[in-house]
Amino acid sequence: MAKRFPDTFYNSLSIIGSVLSIIIFITILFLVIIGLFVPETPVYFGIVTFIVLPILLIFSLLLIIIGIVRERKRLLKGGEVKHFISLDFDNPKHRRGVIAFVIVVVLFMLSSAFGSYQAFQYSESVEFCGKVCHEVMEPEYTAYQTSPHARVRCAECHIGEGADWFVKSKLSGAYQVYSVLFNKYSRPIPTPIRNLRPAQETCERCHWPQYFFSEKKIQKTYFKKDEKNTPWTVSLLMKIGGGSPEMGPTAGIHWHMNINQNIQYISKDKMRQEIIYVKSIDRMGNVTEYFSTDNPLTRDQIDSLPKFMVDCIDCHNRPSHVYNPPTSSVDLSLFLKRIDPTLPFIKKIAVEALSYNYSTKEKALDSIRHIIENFYGSEYKDIAINKSEQIKEAVLEVQKIYSRNFFPRMNVTWKAYPENISHLNNPGCFRCHNDKLISSLGQSITKNCNSCHTILYQGPELSPKTLTTTGLDFIHPEDIGDEWKTTNCNECHTGE
Ligand code: HEC
Ligand code: HEC
Ligand code: HEC
Ligand code: HEC
Ligand code: HEC
Ligand code: HEC
Repeated sequence: MAKRFPDTFYNSLSIIGSVLSIIIFITILFLVIIGLFVPETPVYFGIVTFIVLPILLIFSLLLIIIGIVRERKRLLKGGEVKHFISLDFDNPKHRRGVIAFVIVVVLFMLSSAFGSYQAFQYSESVEFCGKVCHEVMEPEYTAYQTSPHARVRCAECHIGEGADWFVKSKLSGAYQVYSVLFNKYSRPIPTPIRNLRPAQETCERCHWPQYFFSEKKIQKTYFKKDEKNTPWTVSLLMKIGGGSPEMGPTAGIHWHMNINQNIQYISKDKMRQEIIYVKSIDRMGNVTEYFSTDNPLTRDQIDSLPKFMVDCIDCHNRPSHVYNPPTSSVDLSLFLKRIDPTLPFIKKIAVEALSYNYSTKEKALDSIRHIIENFYGSEYKDIAINKSEQIKEAVLEVQKIYSRNFFPRMNVTWKAYPENISHLNNPGCFRCHNDKLISSLGQSITKNCNSCHTILYQGPELSPKTLTTTGLDFIHPEDIGDEWKTTNCNECHTGE
């Protein structure tokens, strides 16, 4: 056989390396072509094509080089002196060798450029983020699909644009891949996420903070835990204004928090649920400090403890991954009649069935069925027979609520990630808007019920036909005296 390449190439390692390289290269080409024509490829397809195979390809190319180096050493030792890098372009053997080498290198570089572009795109796709580490990301991915941001790619909030953040996220991503492979990750994943980039660079690319005006109506129907599941509807007009004075009147939630004011805080816990110091600097530069009466800090502590600046994510910490508490999920299903509200005590029993701490999803779904069926079987025998169809539907719906909001494998429930936007089931706005943070002038941050929203309706109608425009004074649906004025709502309303 005529030798087409330098003698050093003819050794077993290099031959194996080249055969492997050719096979892998053709496989990659083949898969890429398939990928171009088949839009819905399986989840692991991309990983194999753009990550695993190219790594193997690099290894087999290394094999060729290692083989050549070893062969050269062997030839040198054996006395047959051959000049490794002496090329003679008059020698057709050498010419062919060089041409073949250049073609392979150029092809490889082209394909790896294309490949790494694809790998880049792939590693930022929702598929990669949500499905590949299926167990770890299951809660976030499930919640994401029914969120207002279901069409926004994970990477647009978690990475954003720009090379520096890209590198940072890939570095922390590499650590994440390692921790998943070796089962080192914590369950649940701790928040606040330290390497989530600032909201100005993610949220504010789509939501322009200068343009928040007018109000937003939020209406919810609650059902009490009595026999009749008595409904109670509250309709609120949220004062979400706060845009730029160039464009319209400015007042409301976003004005105070974002453009006009710089608010910093110190929290006692990692989850930032207990805030013990607040500093507000307005546009004129006036500084107001609020000190905790329960946890007073010395000036030294205030200067040395880490301070956080309020941005979008301090209020909107669940824009895409909301895990609802049992009460609000069951309320919604009752309101939409997916659970029949004429079943006695169904609110109470459904919430109870959802509130136990189950070790696996299978056990949970099974227990939910048992608890609800046993309840009617023993307490309401006639209803268990007459309304067996409605009970079955209720069981299915409660099981669905469980699957959507509870993830025992990752220890994820609404309790693991408190939502900050309200104040009913979590401290939320009342972390700062309370009577326990007092300024040196003796002022607290307002807890006035009308400063953030106006009540348009409160009462038993499911869909109120008349709303007031002047606003109502809050009536607590259950007679608890003035408790609701002094105790934070979430101390009684735990979500269960
Ligand atoms: C609209 C922006 C947005 C999108 C889109 C988004 N996230 Fe998030 N994500 C957040 C914010 C904000 C947090 C919470 C940050 C905090 O509390 O510190 C978060 C938290 C997380 C966490 C930490 C655990 C948790 O539940 O809080 C994981 C994991 C996560 N996201 C994964 C994903 C995945 C996977 C996708 C795509 C399927 C995705 N995210 C899409 C904004 C987003
Ligand atoms: C890629 C663009 C994009 C990014 C980035 C983005 N959003 Fe959004 N967001 C949207 C769109 C579009 C909607 C409106 C969805 C609809 O109404 O169909 C929306 C809706 C919202 C809403 C209203 C939800 C509701 O219930 O009506 C909030 C609050 C919000 N986004 C907060 C955030 C926060 C906080 C971030 C950053 C963590 C963020 N968004 C990042 C595009 C984006
Ligand atoms: C002080 C808390 C707070 C901060 C900070 C905050 N928001 Fe909001 N935002 C709210 C509340 C409260 C609402 C109304 C309730 C709701 O939509 O659930 C709201 C509503 C919204 C909406 C829905 C508006 C609509 O017309 O439907 C968007 C979008 C939004 N915020 C984006 C942002 C972005 C982007 C930032 C950061 C620049 C931000 N918010 C900062 C509290 C805040
Ligand atoms: C980190 C602390 C903090 C959190 C959390 C917080 N606020 Fe505030 N908020 C303040 C401070 C401080 C002021 C007062 C600014 C001043 O008067 O100098 C304020 C003022 C306001 C005002 C203006 C009140 C008025 O009429 O003077 C509104 C509206 C408001 N906040 C809404 C909200 C909403 C809605 C939430 C929850 C989604 C929230 N805030 C959460 C610190 C906070
Ligand atoms: C600092 C601003 C702020 C103050 C002060 C405030 N609220 Fe709210 N309230 C909110 C926000 C934000 C929400 C959540 C709206 C949403 O669901 O997006 C809310 C929600 C509610 C709800 C609906 C509960 C839910 O989330 O299902 C009720 C009822 C309510 N508020 C009553 C009150 C009463 C009563 C007071 C006075 C003691 C009060 N609020 C004071 C900001 C405030
Ligand atoms: C001392 C405890 C306590 C406090 C504090 C409290 N509530 Fe309640 N709340 C109750 C009880 C008890 C019920 C009746 C529960 C039932 O029958 O299901 C109730 C019922 C409600 C309901 C009717 C829907 C439901 O879940 O049953 C709403 C809405 C409500 N409260 C809002 C608030 C708000 C907003 C605050 C804070 C401003 C607040 N509550 C503070 C004890 C409290």
